[in-house]
Amino acid sequence: MTDPRPSLATLAVWGGELEKSFWERATQLPIVQSASFGYRDLDEWMAVALGQQPGHIYSRNSNPTVAAFEEKVRLLEGAEAATSFATGMAAVSNTLFSLLESGQRVVSVRDTYGGTSKLFADFLPKLGVSATLCPTGDHDALEREIARGCAIVYVESPTNPTIKVHDIARLARAAHAAGALLVGDNTTATPINTRPLGLGADLVLHSATKFLGGHEAAMGGVVCGPADLVKRIYHYREITGASLAPLNAYLLLRGLKTLAIRVRQQNQNALAVARFLAAHPAVASVGYPGLPDDPGHEIASRQMSGFGGMLCFSLHGGWSAVKQALPRLRLAHCAASLGGVQTFAGPPATTSHVECSAEERAALGIPEGLIRYSVGIEDEADLIADLTQALASA
Ligand SMILES: Cc1ncc(COP(=O)(O)O)c(C=O)c1O
Repeated sequence: MTDPRPSLATLAVWGGELEKSFWERATQLPIVQSASFGYRDLDEWMAVALGQQPGHIYSRNSNPTVAAFEEKVRLLEGAEAATSFATGMAAVSNTLFSLLESGQRVVSVRDTYGGTSKLFADFLPKLGVSATLCPTGDHDALEREIARGCAIVYVESPTNPTIKVHDIARLARAAHAAGALLVGDNTTATPINTRPLGLGADLVLHSATKFLGGHEAAMGGVVCGPADLVKRIYHYREITGASLAPLNAYLLLRGLKTLAIRVRQQNQNALAVARFLAAHPAVASVGYPGLPDDPGHEIASRQMSGFGGMLCFSLHGGWSAVKQALPRLRLAHCAASLGGVQTFAGPPATTSHVECSAEERAALGIPEGLIRYSVGIEDEADLIADLTQALASA
C-alpha cells in the first residue's frame, strides 16, 4: 500500500490483499491448498527457485495464501519483512535457534510464556547457549545483565500470565549499547496496542493463534523485522519445516480483518473487569496495566495505545477458592488459550505454564493461586455479572 498511510484498522482489512487479483475474480483470498507449483519453462522455474523472480515452488518454503498473511502482519507491525510459522512456539524457537550460536547468552525475564521459558531452561543450554532470567519487570536488573554482554534480549509485554509491562524503548537502548538484538513477543499487546519496532525492538513475534487470529480456530506464528534478520529466520524455518499451513493462513487472515475492532472492545472490557475485580472483597490482587496503581501503568500509558485484553487476579482463599470459582464462570472457557472473541480463564498451572512443574513455576515467580483472565468481546456488564456470581462462592 502507498501513502497516505492507511490506519491500522484499514490495514487489518485490506493489507496484503488489495493489489491481488484473485482466481475467477473472487473477492476473498483463495486457500491455495497445493504443496507444489508447476513450471514448464525451466528458466522461469530456476529464476523463481533462486529468488530472482517472484513465485512459489513448494509450500514448505512459500505459498500465496501464507504470503498474504505474512504481508498483512508485516504492514500492521510496520516492518520491512515478515515470515510465518505453524505455531507461535515455532516462531519463538526458530528465531532463537537461527540467530544464536554456542557460547552466546540471552537475557530475559522469569515469567515469559511457559514454552519459551522451557527453551531458556532446557533446550538452549544443550546447544551451549545460556540464558539469564531477571525478575520480571525489573528494568535495573535487566540493564545490569545486558551490560555484562549478550547476543539477544528477549521480552514479552505485557507478560503472560503476570501481566507486567516492559519498557521496550529503554531495553532497546540497553540492548543496542551492548551490541545485542531486542526481540519482543507482542502476542498479548497486538500491534493495535503496541508497535515494538517503532520503539526500537529489532524483531517482533507473535503467537498468531491468539489475538491475531482471534477465533481459536487455527494455530500460527509470525516474526517481523529487517529483511536481513527475517531472511535468516526464514531460511531456518524452510529447512527445519515448521511452516504455516494454507488453510490456517486463510483462517488467520479472516480473523485479522476484525483485529482493530476486537482489540478496542477487549481493551474496554478488560479495564471495566479489572476495576470491578479490584473493588471485590474476595479478590486479593489484580494485575492490569490500565489500573492507575499497577506497577506497569506509567510505562503502559506511554507505550500502549490501549491497555490490552488480558488481566490476572488472585483470590484471598488461594488455590481452593480458585478451584471453586473458576468452574462457575458461565461466560468463560476454562481453557489454555487467550486472545479470542470469547473470554478464557485459567490458572497458569493449566494454561501458560502447563509445561512447568510446581517448583519451576514457583522459581519463575508464578503463584499457584493466580487466575489469568483473557477478556473477549462480550458485553462488559454480562462479564461482570458472570464474575459476580462465580466469586460469590469464593
Ligand atoms: C506470549 C506467548 N508467546 C508464545 C506462545 C506460543 O504460541 P503457540 O501456542 O501458538 O505455539 C504463547 C502461547 O500461549 C504465548 O502466550
